[in-house]
Amino acid sequence: MKVKVSRKAHFNAAHRLYVKDWDEATNQEVFGKCNNPHYHGHNYELVVSVLGDIDKETGYVMDMKTLKDLIKAEIEDAFDHKNLNLQVPEFANLIPTAENIAVVIWDKLRPHIEEDKKLEVILYETPRNFVTYTGP
Ligand code: NI
Repeated sequence: MKVKVSRKAHFNAAHRLYVKDWDEATNQEVFGKCNNPHYHGHNYELVVSVLGDIDKETGYVMDMKTLKDLIKAEIEDAFDHKNLNLQVPEFANLIPTAENIAVVIWDKLRPHIEEDKKLEVILYETPRNFVTYTGP
């Protein structure tokens, strides 16, 4: 019997979407407002879920306090109030789209989650736009 437990988190961050090798007109056509050379911010909402068996002793799939602290240490402290392009090393050569941010978050959390459990990351860039990543 598998149960999925989830924790919501939040961070504010700035980004710019552009491809270095493209000219300005092409970047503007593809990325629009998100290509603003002066960057712009989003209020990212994050939902991290862990799927697994309920531990017979604790009754937990995962201690939510542990998950909360993990998200704080690995994601919020690293991303909140940061310029993703300039201040977060994972995006030095990776476009910080919601898709890529979700993958980076998953990669950062995965080593800390027990191996027999599944990890899912849902990232909202706006209230209406969100992406889901469950691993490669
Ligand atoms: Ni944007």
